[in-house]
Amino acid sequence: MSIVKSEKTEEWFFSSDQYILSETDEKGIIIYANDLFCELAGYTLEELLGQPHNIIRHEDMPKIAFKGLWDDIQTKGFWTGVVKNLRKDGAYYWVYATALKRVHSDGSVTYLSVRRVPDRASVQACTSLYADLKSKE
Ligand SMILES: Cc1cc2nc3c(=O)[nH]c(=O)nc-3n(C[C@H](O)[C@H](O)[C@H](O)COP(=O)(O)O)c2cc1C
Repeated sequence: MSIVKSEKTEEWFFSSDQYILSETDEKGIIIYANDLFCELAGYTLEELLGQPHNIIRHEDMPKIAFKGLWDDIQTKGFWTGVVKNLRKDGAYYWVYATALKRVHSDGSVTYLSVRRVPDRASVQACTSLYADLKSKE
């Protein structure tokens, strides 16, 4: 793994060939996370499994972003967006996420999220957009 922390801020970075994966049940409880997810979030897999996905929610994220995520994965089956996530140690990392609804052969539903490095222009745009949305909450 190669993740690095900025020397100037509390931001952590991963590389463009890496994928952060997690899967939840229908209520957003984490049922799977890959090694990179654990490393970036700063938790062990054991600490994450069974926890609500908002364990990595960053306070800078506006409520409406997650309302959009839940509405879209339930109705359209997918959602994409740029998310600022919180590490266990209080630092953060930005991701470009694609979340998908999975309907299994037994009829059960899970949600999978695949995250890649966002481009910096999107991070900049979302930093001001989310601050604006938060100020209106
Ligand atoms: C597949 C999937 C992936 C998610 N990934 C994240 C994530 O990376 N960060 C995050 O803060 N919330 C994520 N969420 C949304 C959380 O479940 C939750 O709605 C959000 O953190 C807001 O918390 P709240 O609903 O308690 O306000 C994800 C949800 C699903 C279904």
